[in-house]
Amino acid sequence: MDTPFKDMERHNKIPRGFLVLLFGLIAWGVCYIAAYTPGISGWSQYKVLSVETEKERAKTSSAGAMTENPYEKDPKAVEEGRVLFAEKCAGCHGKDLKGGYGPSLVGHLKYGETDNLKYESIANGRPGGMPAFGTELGRDRIWRVLAYVDSVREYGKRP
Ligand code: HEC
Repeated sequence: MDTPFKDMERHNKIPRGFLVLLFGLIAWGVCYIAAYTPGISGWSQYKVLSVETEKERAKTSSAGAMTENPYEKDPKAVEEGRVLFAEKCAGCHGKDLKGGYGPSLVGHLKYGETDNLKYESIANGRPGGMPAFGTELGRDRIWRVLAYVDSVREYGKRP
């Protein structure tokens, strides 16, 4: 009646579920290696990276090419711009924008009056004493200040 242990083991069948899992995993492993081996599937981390970089570049360059004020005539942005102007610009350009140490911003602008030239004056500064506000304010707030400046310029043009 006493069966030795090694015989008991030999008669135990491996459960079917375990076999399915085992071969499944092996098959998955083979597929995985094939998919991520450049020689087999053409996959490479450099390709993935370059696709990602390309996407990122497209995103930022389309924003960089923004040449029109996205906040023009947006009352909330103009109001925020008004507060920013009083804080950062009025000291030189005057509370009414008519000039002081810096030139008037309601008349002719010698560095250009298109949105992107005005943006550049503020972001990069101008040699005659206009400081660069690019890092301090950032793109978004520069457009807001400019929306305010333009709203005052528009107002001044009215009869
Ligand atoms: C330290 C004083 C000072 C501050 C602060 C200052 N500016 Fe100026 N800004 C100047 C001077 C001076 C010029 C003229 C530069 C030149 O002629 O080269 C100027 C020029 C400009 C111009 C171009 C004018 C033109 O004729 O083309 C714009 C636009 C402008 N400033 C907007 C702003 C805005 C908006 C702010 C606030 C974020 C600001 N500035 C803050 C001194 C200042």
